Amino acid sequence: MAETSAAAFPLTPRSMPHVLLSLIRNPLDALPPEIFREPIIFTRMGGKMRVYLADPELIYQTLVRNSDALGKGEDVRRLLGPALGDGILTSDGAHWKWQRQSVAGAFRHEKLLELQPAMIAAAERRRDLWQSHQNDTLDLCQEMMRTTFDIIVETMMSGGDGIDVDKVERNITNYLKPTGWKFALGLVGAPNWMPHPGREKAKAAVLFLRATLAKVIAERRRSGIERSDLVSMLLGASDPETGRTMNDEEIIDNLMTFITAGHETTALGLAWTLHLLARHPAYQAKLFDEIVNVTGGNPLRADHVGKLTYARQVFSEAMRLYPPAPIISRAAVRDFTLAGYTIPAGTIIYVPIYAVHRHASLWEEPLVFEPERFEPEAAKARHRFAFMPFGAGPRVCIGNGFAMMEAVAILAVLLQKFRVTGSSEPSPKPIMKVTLRPMHPLPIHLVER
Ligand code: HEM
Repeated sequence: MAETSAAAFPLTPRSMPHVLLSLIRNPLDALPPEIFREPIIFTRMGGKMRVYLADPELIYQTLVRNSDALGKGEDVRRLLGPALGDGILTSDGAHWKWQRQSVAGAFRHEKLLELQPAMIAAAERRRDLWQSHQNDTLDLCQEMMRTTFDIIVETMMSGGDGIDVDKVERNITNYLKPTGWKFALGLVGAPNWMPHPGREKAKAAVLFLRATLAKVIAERRRSGIERSDLVSMLLGASDPETGRTMNDEEIIDNLMTFITAGHETTALGLAWTLHLLARHPAYQAKLFDEIVNVTGGNPLRADHVGKLTYARQVFSEAMRLYPPAPIISRAAVRDFTLAGYTIPAGTIIYVPIYAVHRHASLWEEPLVFEPERFEPEAAKARHRFAFMPFGAGPRVCIGNGFAMMEAVAILAVLLQKFRVTGSSEPSPKPIMKVTLRPMHPLPIHLVER
């Protein structure tokens, strides 16, 4: 029998001032510490019930079985709405479904296979640039952001017609900087217009980014050239119910979504991967052996990528420790039952992927980097959602296959040519700015093979 009264929930007490301060500094520190060892935590803050889930079965029951009881909620819209509008990541219901169906074709396996040569070529350009930097210490995040940006623009926007990568990067960073403030203001129910540090820069960033994409669309319409990429798919998409097409604002919402969600996440995953490999030479050597065996010492080809199974394991293990999207959230739009409780409409649900991936009851020695955890047998023995860097349910990352393919291609091309070494300082703390960034730059040193 389901419980219904609010008093029946075993609430974990939280100090509002502590949570607010932590949110502003680093939303990861605002997670209830118990969620790293308990399956579920109930709290009440800012007048709302808030539930944190770390048990894979409860996550499955929520994100998969009860997906129709959930919306993205106010937090997501407050944080991402100004930049991503009502695009595929931020919308709900029929509007979301139409957008997801419109772009699904770009992410089918056969289509992704066609994109592999472009991914390899971008990795090779980065490798060639690295040859002139052999004695320098490089900033891994920057290096990987440039590489994955190159790939997203090349594969999804057929080159992007002269987008200024550096300026786009800077503006995305400026937009994401006040993340913590936005969470904190949302928690106390402050209105969206409330001033906070970084707000003006973030607003300017949105204007710049959206204007950049408006130019890409205008240029595409003007040239009339037919291309089979995401821009063309969005221009040609029509709603199956009404037959209407997307207006320019809606196309910009989606291009913004794909540019940001589609390069920053993979880049951060790769930056943490190379950082970890620099600290674990034995795993790096094992990966290098695989690359040599698969390629026979020749340049990486598209048909090699699927065979690099250890590279996938290494990237997965890095994403376990440093999931690029560390917390996802939902708002219940109707009551639903979970773990014997009736979760009322209006409840905010957090799936702290970061905590799931470091959970004491799911992982042995959770803080240790060990790619062997992802050997097929070991992975099969775990609950499917003990590892969920791409989310779960109908809102699962549409770029999942794309990201794995490009990550493996980039690792293989770079590590075939270079051994990476790092500093022996402790790893910088991760900080959540929507995505999981290192608190300080991740320096890397290259040794040519
Ligand atoms: C390692 C890389 C990546 C990670 C860890 C990642 C993670 C995620 C996660 C966790 C979600 C679900 C968010 C939620 O449930 O609230 C998501 C959604 C999404 N991702 Fe990714 N992502 C990655 C790469 C990509 C790439 C390469 C693209 C596109 C090229 C992409 C496009 C999207 C889009 C459009 C959504 C929204 C899907 C929807 O709501 O229907 N992502 N991603």
